[in-house]
Amino acid sequence: MTKKIQAGAYQGFNKGLTNYGDTGFSTFLRKAFIKGAGYTDEALDRPIIGITNTGSSYNPCHGNAPQLIEAVKRGILMAGGLPMDFPTISIHESFSFPTSMYLRNLMSMDTEELIRAQPMDAVVLIGGCDKTVPAQLMGAGSAGVPAIQLVTGSMLTGSHRGTRVGACTDCRRYWGNFRANEIDEQEISDVNNQLVASVGTCSVMGTASTMACLTEALGMMVFGGATPPAVTADRIRVAERTGALAVQMAKAGLTPDQIMTEKAFENALRVLLAIGGSTNGIVHLTAVAGRLGFNVDLKRVDAMSRETPVLVDLKPSGQHYMEDFHKAGGVPALLRELRPLLHLDAMTVSGRTLGQELDDAAPAFKQEVIRPFDQPIYPQGGIAVLQGNLAPGFAIIKQSAAAANLMEHEGRAVVFENAEDMANRMDSDDLDVSPDDILVLKNIGPTGAPGMPEAGYIPIPKKLARQGVKDMVRISDGRMSGTAGGTIVLHVTPEAAIGGTLAVVQTGDRIRLSVKERSLELLLGDDEIESRKRALDIKRPSAERGYKKLFLDSVTQADQGVDFDFLIPESKKGSIPTQS
Ligand code: FES
Repeated sequence: MTKKIQAGAYQGFNKGLTNYGDTGFSTFLRKAFIKGAGYTDEALDRPIIGITNTGSSYNPCHGNAPQLIEAVKRGILMAGGLPMDFPTISIHESFSFPTSMYLRNLMSMDTEELIRAQPMDAVVLIGGCDKTVPAQLMGAGSAGVPAIQLVTGSMLTGSHRGTRVGACTDCRRYWGNFRANEIDEQEISDVNNQLVASVGTCSVMGTASTMACLTEALGMMVFGGATPPAVTADRIRVAERTGALAVQMAKAGLTPDQIMTEKAFENALRVLLAIGGSTNGIVHLTAVAGRLGFNVDLKRVDAMSRETPVLVDLKPSGQHYMEDFHKAGGVPALLRELRPLLHLDAMTVSGRTLGQELDDAAPAFKQEVIRPFDQPIYPQGGIAVLQGNLAPGFAIIKQSAAAANLMEHEGRAVVFENAEDMANRMDSDDLDVSPDDILVLKNIGPTGAPGMPEAGYIPIPKKLARQGVKDMVRISDGRMSGTAGGTIVLHVTPEAAIGGTLAVVQTGDRIRLSVKERSLELLLGDDEIESRKRALDIKRPSAERGYKKLFLDSVTQADQGVDFDFLIPESKKGSIPTQS
């Protein structure tokens, strides 16, 4: 009755047995229970493929999860495996108070422990909305079981009075117009119905799309699997293929550490820079790499950025939407342009190298979304890494979505102590602010808010917006949505809440930003900065109980991925990128 584990092959239902001191009895008991669902011994002898079900009424970005699970199961059964779907935490950006980032590590722990606890020879990770894919890759990387990522795919674009619109770059644009009294209540209400035209993830190169593209470049996804929109036949076919590959991976024992190597992470960083990807991509990739034992060296990332042009013309850096990127050939077409810069021998979920996958990719054709390498939409990578006395660790700016005339700028700081202070004063006609000032927002870092919310997209003060001001230099220790743009400095490290230099900036101080020199300076002497720090006497925030206590006591800074310190392995394999 009890099947012996085959040496070197899958373990199926014999994996991770509860220990009663009698292995045969443990197997007997487990099979008795699962047979309550009507399974036969023949079904239970197959490789078991887990499928994370992150469908939720609170998560329309995963609204197609039932159809994807059905297609994944079909692929698994066709390849000789047994599919077993199971629920995990699901996170949507708009339904995760205080912020989705606060829950990312919890989802990664949930994913890791359920992969570990339940018998499965491989797992299909179905995610999509911003924090879900990094959480799943982090969890799977730590669990060490063969894993393959499937994303839900992007939503369709809508149409408002003859203009094509999509979440959420256009959400911000229309809201900015409303704040500036350029459109009325009726129009802002009308466009609200059009911005999210179907289930699926945001239709621009926001964090979800960025993470989908990075995952394909990492080799953790079906080749060509990042870009098919959520409601298309292509997306369902990717799901079926994902299921079949999961069975193949289970049989081969192809674990995440064999795929997510330093070469794979470098390929992913190239793609992040070339797509003008979300600044959140840096934090998430750092967290995933951390689970595999790699540090991300941001100075080397910046050097990489200087030689990697932005080639994909998508909002917010460019013009188009994800469905256009897919029709233009998707990530394989981009990788063809980047080929000389890639590690082609990196392994992928198919058991073939990236180079082999590229060799078999569809031929190039004329299109306008993915530029040739020598005709970029921006000559350097989308993200620049800054340092200086205001950001001794680092800070970043999405230079491809910033205003050219503000990238070399010195101005007077107008300081908000926290998000509440900003909300209370930002729209006041009494706010002392001019277009040349630099807006500074403190205490929205990993421990400050907590959870490093996407409040770094500081709005233009209403009195200036009404005068037609569209952009200003803005600085914070928080993040911003990948769908946003502007001359916005983010991830200032160390954050204000643990006593970084940002904590001592006062209204009236002068700050200099130079993207060319990669510097961010508070124009004060070291003695003055140290004396202000001593006067503040800041203590790291904590909480009395529960997940908030775990979070505040354990969360790392942005340069370590905002992961929990106890989830990052102590033994290190090295730094990436390996070369600048
Ligand atoms: Fe889910 Fe944008 S809100 S991807």
